[in-house]
Amino acid sequence: MSTAAPATHAAPGRSDVTRPVVGLLAEYDSPGALISAAERVRAAGFTRWDTHSPFPVHGIDAAMGIRPTRLPFIVFVCGFLGCMLGLGLQVWANATDASRFPQAPNFVSGYNFHVSGKPELSLPAFIPVTFELTVLLSAFAAVFGMLALNSLPWHANALFAVERFRRATSDRFFVFIDARDPKFNLDQAASLLTSAGAAAIERVHELGSAARLPKGFRIAGMVLLCLALIPPLWIAKARTSLSEKPRIHIIQDMDNQEKFKAQKAAALFADGRASRPQVPGTVARNDPPRNDFLYKGVMDGKWATEFPPAVRITEDLVRRGQQRYNIYCAPCHGLGGAGDGIVHERALRLGTENWVQPTNLLDEVVRGRENGHIFNTITNGIRSMPPYGDQIPPTDRWAIVAYVRALQFSQNAPVELVPAELRPTKDGRPGQP
Ligand code: HEC
Repeated sequence: MSTAAPATHAAPGRSDVTRPVVGLLAEYDSPGALISAAERVRAAGFTRWDTHSPFPVHGIDAAMGIRPTRLPFIVFVCGFLGCMLGLGLQVWANATDASRFPQAPNFVSGYNFHVSGKPELSLPAFIPVTFELTVLLSAFAAVFGMLALNSLPWHANALFAVERFRRATSDRFFVFIDARDPKFNLDQAASLLTSAGAAAIERVHELGSAARLPKGFRIAGMVLLCLALIPPLWIAKARTSLSEKPRIHIIQDMDNQEKFKAQKAAALFADGRASRPQVPGTVARNDPPRNDFLYKGVMDGKWATEFPPAVRITEDLVRRGQQRYNIYCAPCHGLGGAGDGIVHERALRLGTENWVQPTNLLDEVVRGRENGHIFNTITNGIRSMPPYGDQIPPTDRWAIVAYVRALQFSQNAPVELVPAELRPTKDGRPGQP
């Protein structure tokens, strides 16, 4: 690099001229001058250079030959990866059937989580996690990609030490050519910038030690980094070693309280039991009223054969029952009650082991059950059928019983009860209403 630089006038009286030159700064006094200077610098083949202006100058990107940013592409790739990661994670965790990959190591097999024949690959259910991971990774890509493409964070810039450069934020326009540019030659660059109409040209020197990051910062950073490694190492060690001590419980959340657990002894009471019986005369609040007919389907110690007096059999009740049945029972027992609901079909298709077909509600056995028995089946479940008492209030359970009766009746009614014009014809075609 040439030391003679006739066309440049270094700031007089500056003491830092002995430090190496990192580039050349040219000042222009109008956006137009900046654009034509930028065009010339670009035409001269420089690649490491930049312009600085107090406001965005229209056309400067074209003059400098700045290509559109690659950030959208980076964001897209990361977002797509996030999408695939979210989907893949759930497909793996939810749907892997370990038995299909007998050789796979244990961690490859997911949870194989079949819920009543629900689908293994349920895209609608996967949307939230997939969406979140897509957004998360794209946001990370946007922020960190932007920082990386701009080489940020940048603690100090040699230009900050140049007095005249301060006006880059008010009324002056600058071109800076980096000395690391392969085409950089102090004299030639200076004459190029001058002939492009520079109002002033200045060499920019490396920053003095005062502007550099104090050494202590680096040391402190290193120390912090090393300290940050301790918790993960500690956790890693804890995962592989055994200890007699209880776990460290940082957020107590009243988890460990002084209290008596059920069935434990307590010296506090004369009989030594921690579990106390109800105080005599206690009246339960919010308990189901003691009406065994309405709430249990029991009358005189037997399954009730009628409907409780509080439940009046009206068309509205049966319609309500139909609606509740279609929600709570049809998935298993089928809309018509034949035990062919969609859950059953799916279980057959998946070949679910030990699957018990939901009972055909139209068959002899169920038709012979008392109303109270069916009510109790809904409330408490039966054999492999789960209970629905917590989800369906008692009157709705009775409404469902009424609808089940209607279903049974509709499949077993004598043909004389069907109006003549609705009866099927002899050739088997259904009648027309
Ligand atoms: C998750 C599937 C499932 C749902 C939902 C379901 N059932 Fe069942 N239900 C079964 C199965 C399975 C059986 C047979 C149980 C067995 O034999 O082990 C059964 C049996 C029955 C029986 C015959 C019980 C008997 O007397 O032998 C009745 C009645 C019945 N269900 C009514 C209902 C009604 C009413 C609903 C809606 C509130 C309902 N079920 C919801 C699966 C279901």
